[in-house]
Amino acid sequence: MKACQLKLKISAQVRIKDNYWHCEFSAPQIAKIALPGQFIDIRVNDLCEPLLRRPISIHGVSRAKIKIFYAVVGKATEILARKRTGEYLDIIGPLGSGFALGKQKTVNSKQMLVAGGMGVAPLMFLAEKLTEGRKQRAENRITVLIGAKTKKQLLCADDFKKLGCIVKIATDDGSQGFHGKVTDLLHNLSSDFRSLPSAIYACGPKPMLQAVADISNQRGFPAQLSLEEHMSCGIGACLGCVVKTQAGFKRVCKEGPVFNSRDLVW
Ligand SMILES: Cc1cc2nc3c(=O)[nH]c(=O)nc-3n(C[C@H](O)[C@H](O)[C@H](O)COP(=O)(O)OP(=O)(O)OC[C@H]3O[C@@H](n4cnc5c(N)ncnc54)[C@H](O)[C@@H]3O)c2cc1C
Ligand code: FES
Repeated sequence: MKACQLKLKISAQVRIKDNYWHCEFSAPQIAKIALPGQFIDIRVNDLCEPLLRRPISIHGVSRAKIKIFYAVVGKATEILARKRTGEYLDIIGPLGSGFALGKQKTVNSKQMLVAGGMGVAPLMFLAEKLTEGRKQRAENRITVLIGAKTKKQLLCADDFKKLGCIVKIATDDGSQGFHGKVTDLLHNLSSDFRSLPSAIYACGPKPMLQAVADISNQRGFPAQLSLEEHMSCGIGACLGCVVKTQAGFKRVCKEGPVFNSRDLVW
C-alpha cells in the first residue's frame, strides 16, 4: 500500500520524562496500513530551517491514531516538542519496509527484541503486533532486552511488561540490571541453549546492531535489524541513506530501515 502526504492533527502531546515525548496523530489512512518498523517523515514547520523532514518510527497504532515516541536532540525535535494538541503537521507515511513477521509469529517460536536507547520506539509497536490476540505461554513469552547508559535513560520497560513480555535490563554504569552493554547481555543469554531465541528483532545505535548481527550469525539464529541512518528525502529519491549489502547498496528509507543481519556488509 502506498504512503500518503497529509496534514495531520496532533491529538495528544505528552512529555514522558526529561526530553522524551509521546505524540499522537489522528491518521486513519496511515493507521490502517502501518506495519511495525515503518516510519513517518515529519515536516516540523513551513520555514526553510530545518529544511528537511525528520524520520520518526511508528511507536503504536490504535484505531484511527498513530503514536510516536521521540527524544528532543536538536532543532527539529525541539520545534516538534513545542507543538500542541490541535495543531497540524505535514507528514508522509507510512514509509520503509518494516519487520517481516511471517512464520516468526507462531506460538512455538521464542522471539527476542533487543533495544538500545530510542530503539524501543519501533519495537513497542512490534511487540504489540506479536502479542496481539495471543496468550503468551510461559515458556515462549517474548523477551525484551533494553539497554541504556544509565537507569535514568531506560525507556518503556513497564510498557513491555504490560504486554506480558519478559524484560531484562542492561545499563552501561550498572545502575539497574546487568552491568554492561545490552549486547553483552544478549551474548550471555544466547550462550545458554535454553535461552537461545528463534528470532531476534533489534533497533538501536549502529555499533549495537553490528554486535547483534555478529552474535546472531555466530549462533545461527536470524536477526532483523532496524537501522537509523541520516535521511534527506526519506522516499528513496536522493540515495543519501544507502548502506552496503550482499546485493549491493540499498536505501535505508526504502528497502529498509529493517534488514536481515546476514545481508548487511558492515
Ligand atoms: C528510520 C528512522 C526512525 C527513527 N525513529 C526515531 C524515533 O522513533 N524516535 C526518535 O527520537 N528518533 C528517531 N529517529 C532519529 C530522528 O530522526 C532524529 O533524532 C531526528 O531527525 C533529529 O532531528 P533534530 O533536528 O532534532 O536533530 P539534529 O540537529 O538533526 O541532530 C541532533 C543529533 O542527532 C543525531 N542524529 C540525527 N538524526 C540521526 C539519525 N537518523 N541517526 C543517528 N543519529 C542521528 C545528529 O548526528 C546529531 O548529533 C529515527 C531515525 C530514522 C532514520
Ligand atoms: S533519504 Fe533519500 S534515498 Fe533515502
